[in-house]
Formats: sequence, C-alpha cells, structure tokens
Amino acid sequence: MKKCVLVSGGAGFIGSHVTVELIAAGYDVVVADNMSNCDMTCFEGVKKITGREDIPFVKMDFCDMEAVRQLFAAYRIDAVIHFAAFKAVGESVEQPLKYYKNNLISFMNILESGCPNVLFSSSATVYGEPEKVPVTEQSPRQSATSPYGNTKQICEDILQDTVKASGGKLRGILLRYFNPIGAHPSALIGELPRGVPNNLVPFITQTAIGKRECLSIFGNDYPTADGTCLRDYIDIVDLAKAHVFAVRRMLDDKMEQGCEVYNIGTGRPVSVLELVNAFEKVNGLKLNYKFAPRRPGDVTAIWADPTLANEKLGWKAERSVEDTLKAAWAWEKHIAGK
Ligand code: UFG
Repeated sequence: MKKCVLVSGGAGFIGSHVTVELIAAGYDVVVADNMSNCDMTCFEGVKKITGREDIPFVKMDFCDMEAVRQLFAAYRIDAVIHFAAFKAVGESVEQPLKYYKNNLISFMNILESGCPNVLFSSSATVYGEPEKVPVTEQSPRQSATSPYGNTKQICEDILQDTVKASGGKLRGILLRYFNPIGAHPSALIGELPRGVPNNLVPFITQTAIGKRECLSIFGNDYPTADGTCLRDYIDIVDLAKAHVFAVRRMLDDKMEQGCEVYNIGTGRPVSVLELVNAFEKVNGLKLNYKFAPRRPGDVTAIWADPTLANEKLGWKAERSVEDTLKAAWAWEKHIAGK
C-alpha cells in the first residue's frame, strides 16, 4: 500500500513544490492549509503538473486541535511534513505573540496527533552569524535575532525533546534550509509574496517586470569580496527533493538517530551582487538597482556544508543558479500574464 504524507501548509511556496515531488516519488499526499498567506494558484498548479485532480485538500488551521484530530481520523497518515507557519522576520518583531502562538501551537498540535514520523522545516537562521563558514549541523546555534527565528529554534527543541520522550514511537527530521529560490520549471508554481517582498529574488523579479521601481541592495560595505552579503541559494525543486529523500529514510526505517538534522544547501556562497548580475545575464535584461544601507539583522555570510545530507540522505543540489534564476523569471512572467 502507498504511504501517505500530510503536507501542512501545502498550498504555499515550499509545500507545493514538495507535494509535486512526493507524488512523483509515488506517495499519496494530503494537503492542508489555512490559506492565510496564499491563494489556490499553487495548489491548482500542483494538480496540473502532476495530472492529479484528486489530491485531497483540507482547509484548516493547525492551531485548532479539534480540526487536527478530525484530519488524522479522516486519513491514514504515515508522516507529516510541517510547513504551516508565519515567516516574515520583520512582522514577527512587531507582532511576536502572533508568531509564537501560531508557529508553536500548530506544531505542538501535530506532535499531539501521535503521528510517528514528523519532518520539521527549520532554517539556517538558527546558526545566526556563524563564526566559521560553511556551517555544519554541529555548528553552534546562536540566540535568535527575531521571534520568527526563535520559533524555529523552539520547534527544533520541541521535536528533539518529544522524540526523546517517546521511547521510539516518534521519529523526527529537522531540515535546515538555506535560501530557497526559484520556481518549478513548468512555471505553474512558485513564490507569491503578498505586498512588498522581503526576500531578494521576488524583489528582483518584481523589479524586472515593473511592479517595483528599484531594487535596494542592502549594504555594499560588508567584509566580502564585492562588499555585499553571501548566501547559499538553493533551488526550490532541489530543496523539495530533499524532503522526499528524508521521508523515505523515515518510512523505510533507515534512521540512525531518533531525531536527525540536515543542512539543505548547495555549499556554494553567492553574493547579492553576483546573484543580481547572474539574473540580468541569463534573462538578457537590465535591472534597476541601487546600493542602500545595511538591513538590520542581516548576517554577513552564511553557507552550508551539505555533506551530511549528501551522504546520509543520498541527496545533492543539482540545479545551477542560472537555471534557477531563469525559472524565477518565467514564473514572474506567468503570474503577470506575460
Ligand atoms: N536583500 C537585498 N535587497 C532586498 C532583499 C534582500 O539586498 O530587497 C539581501 C539581504 O540583505 C541579504 C540577501 O539579499 O543579504 C538575502 O536576503 P533574503 O531576505 O532573501 O534572505 P535572508 O538571508 O535574509 O533570509 C534568510 C531566510 C529566512 C530567515 C532569515 C534570517 O530566508 O527564513 O534568513 O534572517 F529568517
């Protein structure tokens, strides 16, 4: 019998790409989302890409324990991948309780469901400003600089503790994403930020299409070769595939520890300016940009050592930054109807 994976927050950017890859790998998927930060565009795109009209979709809020109970009673769920969370760093500073309540309660409700396999979407933000790069999973976590980042750390701890206390009944995987960017090569699913984008690539594509006047590059006086920050930009399809490898490891009983942690990145640092230049080059256009002051809270440089994920999960990032930036641009044109 096919194993069934629940994707919470499955109508969003990462969740929709993960749903596509899980279905391609032969899993049944149940998508659940409260639609607080997305519309049905991506879920409709998922159905087109997979050719599957019958993917179960449940509109629900994971903070509602009764709704969570009903969901688990209605479907035979073997594993959960949990994405349903708020993710805007700045907003979390202004409205910390909104973030703590939503991101922590929804995750604890999932753990209370008793599902034996839980994968949590964590972030490289747990490493803060690292002393040494690239970072391995053993690199120390630093205290979070925003409530959003803190919810990632607390959820990591909640999962570790709950696995420990479960006496082998619960297995957990924490995937620490670096900077997910791009879109599906079909241009049918991608990132749909509401309002002014916080993240670099959606700001670039919206500037290129004319929705924004000018991209501000935050800081060109960092101690890096070109003065702009260094990040590890990971293609969204590559990132989605990492989830399939992780879920398989859980469901095939291959885990060596109750809770395993993996960096999901390329291992390749790219500066903001390099990314902007690559976007211009591969898409044959000029971007209106200017240098602006540093953005508070940004770290200078972080990229992954992905060796553990390469070796234990058998996963490796494959797509080039160029292909990823082409896909991001194709998606922006698709949603603009061009
Ligand atoms: N940047 C710009 N201009 C913009 C947007 C971003 O120059 O308009 C720069 C940033 O200063 C940074 C780089 O582009 O140097 C990447 O910024 P993003 O906002 O795309 O990504 P971050 O590295 O800031 O975000 C990551 C994760 C978040 C996490 C955050 C912690 O995507 O989930 O780190 O600070 F919360």
